[in-house]
Amino acid sequence: MKKLNLVVLASGGGTNLQAIIDSIEAGKVDAQIRAVISNNSKSGALERARNYNIPDIHLSHKQFATPEEFDQKFLSILKDKETDLVVLAGYMKMLSPTVIRTYKNRIINIHPALLPSFGGEGMYGIHVHEAVIKAGVKITGVTVHLVDEIYDHGAIVMQKTVPVLDDDTPESLAERVLKAEHQTYAEAIQLFAEDRIEIRGNRSYLKK
Ligand code: GRF
Repeated sequence: MKKLNLVVLASGGGTNLQAIIDSIEAGKVDAQIRAVISNNSKSGALERARNYNIPDIHLSHKQFATPEEFDQKFLSILKDKETDLVVLAGYMKMLSPTVIRTYKNRIINIHPALLPSFGGEGMYGIHVHEAVIKAGVKITGVTVHLVDEIYDHGAIVMQKTVPVLDDDTPESLAERVLKAEHQTYAEAIQLFAEDRIEIRGNRSYLKK
């Protein structure tokens, strides 16, 4: 079977990217990363890509006169890499409606909580875990979902739970959730590689 072509977008340290690389190398994910794109030239994600000879591309809106020119370049890279699935792994920029429409049902994101709770604008990084602890919920987790034009809103593909402990700080909780993210993202990508995910409306279904 043909390997799934991934393009990973990341702005930060790239531990999710690393987990995907490791899972591919371990033969757990039937995919290849055709490129890593970051808006941040100093991101750990680009450095990790270079360590594995994966093309690393710094692409920022600041390099273009208009958002349309950015999109044109971005879409031409995705096309050139014969991208099957765009994987957002800590990418801090919103993708434009043009990009989202062109790659409809082929862009996924990972969110460090159980959506639709604790999502939406401003809910990123440590803010998510602060809100979880403040709300007093006993369970949080990880959500892999498709990206549509609304923040943290597209069809949910996979969720895993993580307990919230009485003595958790936002930082200790973030650490435990991040570990769950690493495992969950690889599993979800493998489902796409096996063509097991079907999208109908705003729901995803696992093909038998
Ligand atoms: C993760 O918590 C992910 O859920 C969020 O951004 C973080 C990225 O971490 N979208 P890393 O760069 O993969 O280490």
